[in-house]
Amino acid sequence: MPTLPARALLLAPMVELSHRPLRQLISSFGSCDRYYTEMTSAAGYLAHSPFDRWFTDSEPEPARTAVQLYASEPGPMIEAAARLVQERGLSGTPLGGLDANFGCSAPQIEKAGGGVSWMKDAARAATMLAGIKSAAPGVPLSAKLRLGYDESREALVDFCLALQEAGVDYLVIHPRLWNAKFRRIGRWDSVRAVAEALDIPVVGNGDVRDYPGYRTAIDEYGVAGVMIGREAVRRPWIFSLLRGKEADPAFELSVQVEDVGLGMIESIRALLPRSFHVSRARRFFFYYCDNLSFGHHIRYAIQNCDDLDGMVRLFSAYFSEVPSDRVLLER
Ligand SMILES: Cc1cc2nc3c(=O)[nH]c(=O)nc-3n(C[C@H](O)[C@H](O)[C@H](O)COP(=O)(O)O)c2cc1C
Repeated sequence: MPTLPARALLLAPMVELSHRPLRQLISSFGSCDRYYTEMTSAAGYLAHSPFDRWFTDSEPEPARTAVQLYASEPGPMIEAAARLVQERGLSGTPLGGLDANFGCSAPQIEKAGGGVSWMKDAARAATMLAGIKSAAPGVPLSAKLRLGYDESREALVDFCLALQEAGVDYLVIHPRLWNAKFRRIGRWDSVRAVAEALDIPVVGNGDVRDYPGYRTAIDEYGVAGVMIGREAVRRPWIFSLLRGKEADPAFELSVQVEDVGLGMIESIRALLPRSFHVSRARRFFFYYCDNLSFGHHIRYAIQNCDDLDGMVRLFSAYFSEVPSDRVLLER
């Protein structure tokens, strides 16, 4: 059975955003093919860090949710993979996949040898992935990477070939150099070069926001699937919209924008620990407010609000003032 369905749609791992409430919300619109958890420190998980059960939680669809791990050494990555397999075996919860973070460029992680820093040494990265593969047999294994440290497409392709050789099931490429910010345009032609050179599926990620963007990724850059991050927070119905448009170009979706936002606050309250509430809600609304005609005011107010009840009041008050924003017709 293929690890990914054709033209797969994946939710990106995003710190403080790719949690159970977001997956639940996306799932309520019709789901995507694979979800990723936010990155979890392998060493922290092995040390029983108190919040890891929320970071590695893969409900409500564990069979299609990959847990993303990061570390600066191979040992903790392999051990954490083995422990996850063991724990999931005991609890009877499927482990939908494991992903190695080879893309994080946050200075404290990159400087310590984690995240994108793995791209400096293909042999080391490949050995580590082979270790995970034997520690977690049968669990789909991916790595999510950037373009690396220099412009060389040849070096990128060689790096990816080494990972393929190590037994990784598919790769996700976010085509920006190791420290490039979002304002720089992603280089999707590099994704195509890797997709052409490899036998395993290559998923593209970065700046896909709508149906034409999804089609361009699949048709012009030859990827096996598309991973979406920020747009899936802005519009948690994006996967459903893309699938709908694929089946019928006239597809339309009517979204209850107020209800979705208020529902998200209640999911955060119900499903995440109290110390996560404000930060996760602020992060979500930072993007979600783009759906509103006067989103900048309410976004600012929510970013400065210190409790969920206050956010509910602010968000509801907005729609009393601008009732026409309650329903959004996506077409
Ligand atoms: C708030 C935020 C947190 C992120 N956290 C992670 C992470 O934990 N692991 C990871 O591999 N990438 C992380 N990323 C990068 C995304 O997975 C993705 O590669 C990037 O946002 C580009 O995709 P997009 O244009 O669809 O958003 C993060 C991005 C954002 C905006």
